[in-house]
Amino acid sequence: MYILGIWDGHDSGAALLEDNKIVFASNEERYTKRKLEVGFPTNSINAALRYAGIKPQDIEVVAFPTVEFAKTLSRVFPYQMERYYKLRRRKLSQKGIEGIMYKTRGLQYRLKYLENTIGVLPLCATISKAVVAKHLKHMGFKEFKLYTVDHHTAHAATAAFASGFKEALILTLDGYGDGLSGSISTFENGKLERRHAIPARDSIGILYEQVTNLVGMRELEDEGKVMAMADYSYPFKFEENKLKDFIRVEGLTLKAKYGPLRQYGVLEGIAWSTPREQLAYFAQQLTEHVLTQLAKNALERYGMNNLAMAGGIFSNVKANMKIRELEEVKNWFVFPHMGDGGIAMGSAMYVNYLLNGISNYSFPDAYLGDSFTKEEVEEVLKKEKGVYFEYDRDAAKHAAELINKDEYVFWFQGRMEYGPRALGNRSILAKAGSETAKDKLNLYVKQREWYQPFAPSMLKEESERLLEDVKGYDRFMTMAYKVKKEAVEKMKSVVHVDNTARPQMVGEENKEYRKLIEHVKKLEGYGVILNTSFNIHGMPIVRTPEDALETMKKTKTKYMFIEGFYVENKEV
Ligand SMILES: [Fe+2]
Repeated sequence: MYILGIWDGHDSGAALLEDNKIVFASNEERYTKRKLEVGFPTNSINAALRYAGIKPQDIEVVAFPTVEFAKTLSRVFPYQMERYYKLRRRKLSQKGIEGIMYKTRGLQYRLKYLENTIGVLPLCATISKAVVAKHLKHMGFKEFKLYTVDHHTAHAATAAFASGFKEALILTLDGYGDGLSGSISTFENGKLERRHAIPARDSIGILYEQVTNLVGMRELEDEGKVMAMADYSYPFKFEENKLKDFIRVEGLTLKAKYGPLRQYGVLEGIAWSTPREQLAYFAQQLTEHVLTQLAKNALERYGMNNLAMAGGIFSNVKANMKIRELEEVKNWFVFPHMGDGGIAMGSAMYVNYLLNGISNYSFPDAYLGDSFTKEEVEEVLKKEKGVYFEYDRDAAKHAAELINKDEYVFWFQGRMEYGPRALGNRSILAKAGSETAKDKLNLYVKQREWYQPFAPSMLKEESERLLEDVKGYDRFMTMAYKVKKEAVEKMKSVVHVDNTARPQMVGEENKEYRKLIEHVKKLEGYGVILNTSFNIHGMPIVRTPEDALETMKKTKTKYMFIEGFYVENKEV
């Protein structure tokens, strides 16, 4: 039985399940080339069907999450969502109708915070269902049953059912969704049960989002930069934190001092007179404090040691590190697509659980998207006059040698990663122990803010040699770790100012990528490299060989390895 999950909001996408298998999952941004796309995920749905070799009429069950007032409104008036997308991404024209929105942006943000605490009203589900069904019928779907899933239940389903745990506490936290900003559930004997819900009004996610906006960055996108910037502040004691009582932990829930609308106004006043990095520090410190306290209380209350997490807040790798360090946490799992981009899969999983009792998926890797055969890649390369290419049996070794010579290389193979991180299938790779390649990368391709660190990929077995407090096998880059003193120099292009890194530990789930890092180890003594996503600054990760070649030309990059082909840019 096929179940299709779809999400038509922030970072829209689709996921296809067949019985207890995840067949395919992808996000719309990779097709429309608009980062964190918000439109209906027509392309992702088509890609899922194509991958499975089925037609729309073969799908009998479709699930989608979130029927709150604000989301329903944006389904009925999609241009509203589009304008907010442009405002958020700072792409709004400053003329005409968009210009009015631009000039009143302070008011627009406030309206959003007013709307988003409303939650689910009567008729919302019916209206949302009607709009989604119309889209599906237009695509050729015929006899299908359409289910709606609560937003935080969808997040919780991904955390619980992909974790591999038999028993775990499930924590979800984000900005807001369906009137909530978080939930605590237990997962035991295949049963997922919600125990507590945290109202949208009391949202640590909204606070972080507002701070991101007020330090001049894009909310729902640049939170990682705020986290990185926080480490450049002078340290403050928690008692000195200007935001310390904005969100309090009360047992198993959170309590905000102000509603989101009022909070935005108060924060605006604080931002006006506080250096940016200090405000970032306050938000980060508060987040770490709230998350660890809440996790601790919940684990104690239910006497559990396994913790699985999902929701946008858990993209905060530093807060995740603090959770991992808790005594109460024995095993942990962060769903790799923790933000709303992951809830298409969560909805499908939850409906599969309701209908068929399935609550356990094998989730060895996140390579769930499109792939291209050698022949398809060769066809594309042949058409491109500006490059030299040849099939290379020793691609991994040659890539390692170039990396060792301080070159950066594009690395493209197999199925595209699901989620925000490139994990060795659509990656740009460079030497971890040198700043030369990192600087080149920043200059030509990534244009990152100077304080934003790159991340490493390392052989799984090297992790304990390089990092402190390794607990678990982090295949998905979801946590920060302290780098051991003696390894900092060898990893200087991937270590943050506070000596932490966000590593991908590579095991047998990606053999060719492992081979590459093994060769690097032979050459340099350490099995670690710099791994950043294969995209130009501000663009989504590349999906196709055409995207890859275009990026190569635009960035004047010399070397690429793609599906076993060595490609050299003749124009560089
Ligand atoms: Fe969410």
